[in-house]
Amino acid sequence: MCFYQYNFDSTCCFLYNPAMKKKKTNPSDTWQIGNTTISGRVILAPMEGISDQPYRTICRRLGSAISYSEFINAMDVLHSHPYRVDQRASFLPSERPVSIQLFDNEPDRIIKAAEVIAQLEPDFIDINMGCSAKKVSNRGAGAGLLTTPQKIETIFRELSHRLPIPVTGKIRLGWDGGSKNYLEIARIIEQNGGAAIAIHGRTRKQAFSGYADWDAIAEVKQNSSIPIIANGDVKTNADIDKILAHTGCDAVMIGRAAVGNPWIFNRVDADQVPYTARYQLMKEHLLAMTQFYGAETGIVLFRKHAVYYLKQYPMTREEKRKLLSTRSFLTFFATLDELNLGQREVCT
Ligand SMILES: Cc1cc2nc3c(=O)[nH]c(=O)nc-3n(C[C@H](O)[C@H](O)[C@H](O)COP(=O)(O)O)c2cc1C
Repeated sequence: MCFYQYNFDSTCCFLYNPAMKKKKTNPSDTWQIGNTTISGRVILAPMEGISDQPYRTICRRLGSAISYSEFINAMDVLHSHPYRVDQRASFLPSERPVSIQLFDNEPDRIIKAAEVIAQLEPDFIDINMGCSAKKVSNRGAGAGLLTTPQKIETIFRELSHRLPIPVTGKIRLGWDGGSKNYLEIARIIEQNGGAAIAIHGRTRKQAFSGYADWDAIAEVKQNSSIPIIANGDVKTNADIDKILAHTGCDAVMIGRAAVGNPWIFNRVDADQVPYTARYQLMKEHLLAMTQFYGAETGIVLFRKHAVYYLKQYPMTREEKRKLLSTRSFLTFFATLDELNLGQREVCT
C-alpha cells in the first residue's frame, strides 16, 4: 500500500505569531497509552473531512497530543480502495503519536483490516464505536456496534493479541436513552486488552443534539484502569480545564470547536487570534492541502475550513461567494486581500 509523505516543515514560518508561542509541556501533562508516552492532554478528534493529514499536522504542531485519522471503512482497506485508504491512512513522522481509526460491523473484517493497517506502523489502531450516521450505525458499524457487545469483545480480544501496537476504542453512551451501556462496553474493552477509551457523552440517537453528559464520562473514568479521554461540547480553553476537573479523565478530545481554531490546542480561544495569524495559518493550510490533494481538489476541500477560519468576519453573500468560488491558491489570497477583512469589526 503506498502512502503519501509530504514534508511541510519548510512552510512552518507561516504558523506562528510570535505573540502566540507554543506552551511548554509540563511533566504532569504526560501520560501513557500502552508503552507510548503522550505529551499533552488535549487531542484533535477524528473528524471525517476535517482531520486529514494537512490539518492534523497543523493541530499537532500547535499542541494536539495525538493525531487520530478520519475513520476508514475496513471494507475499503480489504478491497484496496486507494482514494479512501491511502490518503486517510497516510501520516507524517512529525504527527506521532498517530492513531488510525477503523469502522465496520464485522469483527473478522475489522481484524483483517487492522492487520493490514498495522503494517503502516501507526502508534495505535482505534475502533470507531461512536459514529451516529445512519448509513454506518444502521448496519451495525460505528455506534451500531454498541448494540452487539459480543462483537466488541471479539474485536478487542483478537486485536490485543494479534497487533504489535495498542488498540483503543471510541464510544458513545449507548444506542439511545433506554439502552445506555457505556459502563458495560468500557469494561469489555478493558478486559479484552483495549489500551484506552475516548468517550463522547451522547447516545447514538442524540447524534449531536442536546448536551454531552460529562457525569457519565466521569463514571467511566471512575470504573476504569486504562486511560479515558473525555469528549463532547468542549468549546473554549476554559472548557478544557472544566471537563478534565469534572470527569478526572486523562485527556480531552475536541471536535467541532477545533474546526477553524487549531489554536485551541495551544490553549488560545478563537476570539483571541489576530487576523494576521489567521491569514498566515490559512496560507500554510491551503498550501499543505494543495500539495496533499493536488491544486484543484485542495482548494475545493479547503473551502469548508476557510468558512470556519473567517466566521467572525462579516462578509456579504456576494463577497463570500466570490472568495469561496476561487480556484487557486493565488486567487483565493488575492480575493482575501481585496476584502481587507482585518480592518472589519469582528462579530462576537
Ligand atoms: C464533521 C465531523 C466528522 C466526524 N467524523 C468522525 C470520525 O471519522 N470518527 C469518529 O470517531 N468521530 C467522528 N466525529 C465525532 C467527533 O470525533 C466527536 O466525537 C464529536 O464531534 C463530539 O465532539 P465535539 O463536541 O468536540 O465536537 C465527527 C464529527 C464531526 C462534526
